[in-house]
Amino acid sequence: MCCMIPVPFRYITTPIYYVNDRPHLGHLYTSVAGDILARFYKLLGHRVKFVTGTDEHGAKVDQAARQQGLLPQEYVDVMAKAFQDLIQVAHVQTDDFIRTTEQRHHRAATALWNRLEQTGAIYLDHYAGWYAIRDEAYYDESELADGPNGKIAPTGAPVEWVQEPCYFFRLSQFQQPLLDYYRDHPEAIGPDSRYNEVISFLNSGLRDLAVSRSKMTWGIGIPGSDHVMYVWVDALTNYLTALGYPDSDGPEFQEHWKESIHLIGKDILRFHAVYWPALLMAAGLMPPKRLFAHGWWMSEGQKMSKSLGNVIDPFALIDQYGVDRVRYFLFRHVRFGQDGDFSKALFQQRCNHELADGLGNLVHRVLSFIQNRLDSVMPVWSGGAVADSEYACLHRGADVIREWASEQSSGWIHHIEEQNIYAYLESVYSGITKGNVYMAELAPWALFKLARSGDMAAEQAMRHGLCALVIFLRDVAIALWPVIPATAQSIWTQLGLPGAIQDLTGGGVESGHVTDGGSERSGQVSNIENGATAKLDAGFFSCLGADLLIDCIGQPTPLFSKDV
Ligand code: MSP
Repeated sequence: MCCMIPVPFRYITTPIYYVNDRPHLGHLYTSVAGDILARFYKLLGHRVKFVTGTDEHGAKVDQAARQQGLLPQEYVDVMAKAFQDLIQVAHVQTDDFIRTTEQRHHRAATALWNRLEQTGAIYLDHYAGWYAIRDEAYYDESELADGPNGKIAPTGAPVEWVQEPCYFFRLSQFQQPLLDYYRDHPEAIGPDSRYNEVISFLNSGLRDLAVSRSKMTWGIGIPGSDHVMYVWVDALTNYLTALGYPDSDGPEFQEHWKESIHLIGKDILRFHAVYWPALLMAAGLMPPKRLFAHGWWMSEGQKMSKSLGNVIDPFALIDQYGVDRVRYFLFRHVRFGQDGDFSKALFQQRCNHELADGLGNLVHRVLSFIQNRLDSVMPVWSGGAVADSEYACLHRGADVIREWASEQSSGWIHHIEEQNIYAYLESVYSGITKGNVYMAELAPWALFKLARSGDMAAEQAMRHGLCALVIFLRDVAIALWPVIPATAQSIWTQLGLPGAIQDLTGGGVESGHVTDGGSERSGQVSNIENGATAKLDAGFFSCLGADLLIDCIGQPTPLFSKDV
């Protein structure tokens, strides 16, 4: 049964990336995570806005431009392109790409600033203290340690003494409102350990935050002064820019903002979980609905760093291994939220085992059998009832495989709601293992021989089993599409299904039907009426594709080779 409920809105963001250097694995990681969530919700027919972009102002970018002998604007134009190229090669489909040097962003950031001034949340004073350009962050003396060439921040970044007139934001007034907010919204920060980290930081007290730089020019000018905005205030505002702020009265802004989720790395939690909601509260806006902070990747057991020469170049990785292996490994190897170690040996091992042997072989074995033995014709059974007690076990197995996706889909929705991409993939992969076990139990080659000698029950069992496997593979393709879209589409096409999985998004699919003798599967085509309703019942994935007609399977083609 399908229940009609209003289509949920989703607003998914990644951090906007500093353009002081080329993209690295960390950038790829958050972008793909956002893409997985966005694709999943698009499949469900939700109104998704998924946004990423580049953080182009600040001392760090300014310095990098000067080192190249370029004007900052020339430099950022070149560098932003590399980030745009990365999302292309990584098959990350965004709905917008924000650059903080864009006019629309200037407008949004200026409007937010004016609003903060109007409410009295900002005042002019003088700053004297430590600043780390690498982190674009202010530090207290008490947080610093002695490094080889002077004082360093807890992140290891060198700090410099800054003394300048400066605007301050009354962050100290938001300690209690933030504690109250997080007490009432424990779901606002994930994973739980990060929530606890924020609460203890808040409990330790908040000082007002310096929010302008007067000795810098590469930034958004503050109206009526010669200061530029602190780059974090400028950057955080990008999340509003993408929704059209300051035009925030319309449904586009309101509905999306209510459903906002910011995916971030653990290092930028404080900016997002403390400064950002305080700025929003001061401006009369709601804090984001949820923040999810993921862990960091190391490279072969070591922190990635330029000096060690072990920074993983995402372009080279994708070029060498193919985009889907990379996307799969990043989210299958490590629980999203925890730190991980990127090791080529483990990468190859997992991809060979799970993608080449597990998934690729199953698809190939099922489809090659149908191609070679059944002339590619969909293995439906139309011979009427046959006494088949001998094969009861195979029929029961076929039912399990056929119903697998509908059994799992409410669990999948739950995992994705919690950004638990790891559990999602674990469930899908355990299904693939079940499919392989069932294919071995079915042993269609043996049933085929019996069928040729006139054993009707064997033929029925073979056809029922293979038909269930085809339906199962269709659902595997749908479930894998958010994570490895190109592979999923290839399975879809090899199955002989029409069009693109992408077109299932929004819930509308061409109608047709899969016939399986007398037991035609019930399932309906999802209908979004005037964009106002969506189907979200437990059997969603199997319903989504259930009515698609497969007469003949397509050409089986190996999905993954093991010689990477
Ligand atoms: N520009 C700020 C974000 C502003 S958002 C309003 C910024 N940019 S960044 O380019 O330095 O970092 C972007 C993201 O990359 C952060 O979420 C950070 O956690 C992530 N990563 C950087 N190195 C990483 C790893 N080694 N592993 C995983 N992610 C890492 O911060």
